[in-house]
Amino acid sequence: MVTASPASILLASNRGPVSFTIEDDGALTPRRGGGGLVSGLSAIGDEVDSVWVCAALTEGDRAATRQGLDDPSVRMLDIDAGTFARAYNGIANSTLWFVHHLIFNTPTTPVFGSSFRREWTSYEIYNTSFAEALAESAAEGATVLVQDYHLSLTPRLLRELRPDLRIGHFSHTPWAPPDYYRLLPDDVAVDVLEGILGADHAGFLTRRWAAAFADCCEAVLGAEVDRAALTVSHKGRTTRLGVHPLGADGEFLRERAHRPDVDSRLATLRDAVGGRKTVVRVDRTELSKNIVRGLHAYRHLLRTRPEWLDRVVHIAFAYPSRHDLPEYREYTASVLRVAQEINDEFGTASWQPVMLQVDDDFARSLAAYRLADVALVNPIRDGMNLVAKEVPVVSDAGCALVLSREAGAYEELGGDAVAVNPYDVIATAEALHTALTMPEEERSARCGRLAAASTALPPSAWFLEQYRALTDGQS
Ligand code: G6P
Repeated sequence: MVTASPASILLASNRGPVSFTIEDDGALTPRRGGGGLVSGLSAIGDEVDSVWVCAALTEGDRAATRQGLDDPSVRMLDIDAGTFARAYNGIANSTLWFVHHLIFNTPTTPVFGSSFRREWTSYEIYNTSFAEALAESAAEGATVLVQDYHLSLTPRLLRELRPDLRIGHFSHTPWAPPDYYRLLPDDVAVDVLEGILGADHAGFLTRRWAAAFADCCEAVLGAEVDRAALTVSHKGRTTRLGVHPLGADGEFLRERAHRPDVDSRLATLRDAVGGRKTVVRVDRTELSKNIVRGLHAYRHLLRTRPEWLDRVVHIAFAYPSRHDLPEYREYTASVLRVAQEINDEFGTASWQPVMLQVDDDFARSLAAYRLADVALVNPIRDGMNLVAKEVPVVSDAGCALVLSREAGAYEELGGDAVAVNPYDVIATAEALHTALTMPEEERSARCGRLAAASTALPPSAWFLEQYRALTDGQS
């Protein structure tokens, strides 16, 4: 293990910037990821000592931590595999994610019994491991940016160990309204809120999610909330709330979308589409993304407006996600089934109405973005939804955006999108028709404004905002 000197900026997130694969000969190959945090941290500059604390997610990651990573700026925690699975699958992804996205099927789930309690203990252990690693790696007075629902207890645990640190927390998800949040067992509901209130600054993607968090603090903890100043005071401490709406990285996307690998995929897609209009969606196969209702809406469009038969193709890219959870495997099967049903009902020898792809291919996603006449983004609820921001930036001819009013992105993009209630498939079908028939001039003007709004706070600026809100004492 390479030992690093104490760092003055620390990031903590479940998924880190690098992941290792074990090759057939036993060698470990690192693969670096992208995303807002990676570009944000590089914007801070190389001269600042930073450490990124993350969990070992794969067997390759675990092997790498045992052999000693050669990168002192990444500290991967080799948490016991069972403890990790219970914390990540059981609590983070099956409980907190479900609460914040309102996706429980409440007549039957959740059931908070003894296996939940075992998972909750694992989540506490997992959060404690992060707090201890951060406490150990941080220089006196360092700044620590803790990310997301996997690590909601870490800010408070870290403050107990190191009261000298400036601690921020950022939620990338929505926040549940109090009535729904109260599904959680009372002690858990308190611990999650008090965990985040251990931070000096708690960031959210939209005003709506920040307000819901404040509402929960008031309703569950009896905390004092100042809605104008966006502060929550509880047990003698005040946490400032901040709203930092992560945007798309326009510069990167525009350049990346015109490389040869994207051009060749675009040519293939164009061939398959054959001059028809396109409705494009790109998502992880995630319960909250509402892919199945999107397909129902498209089917309703074809059934009720036969003028679209043979004149439109729905390009749906639904990439694998969280397959350890049975709900996700079942959901993936429904997506495949409904897409097949539509193709069986309407397809002809020369027209495939739904083109569904489930293997992840970023270059092909960008090609679809460029080609889209209509982008369909209809989540049940979503922290932000960056696809809604990326498509208008990359679109070649200007696309129309059908956007759920429950996506965080709606706060900034609602004015130029065609808004939908994500549960209403008939209204979504009508919205698709409106978007498909939008006059070209209007479509291109709206798309220009959508692209400008989408790139207002690119990842590096978003990260700096979070950082400065903490270090300057302003949100
Ligand atoms: C959401 C969360 C992220 C998470 C991502 C992928 O966007 O807010 O924290 O990294 O989903 O989920 P995964 O479970 O694959 O890390």
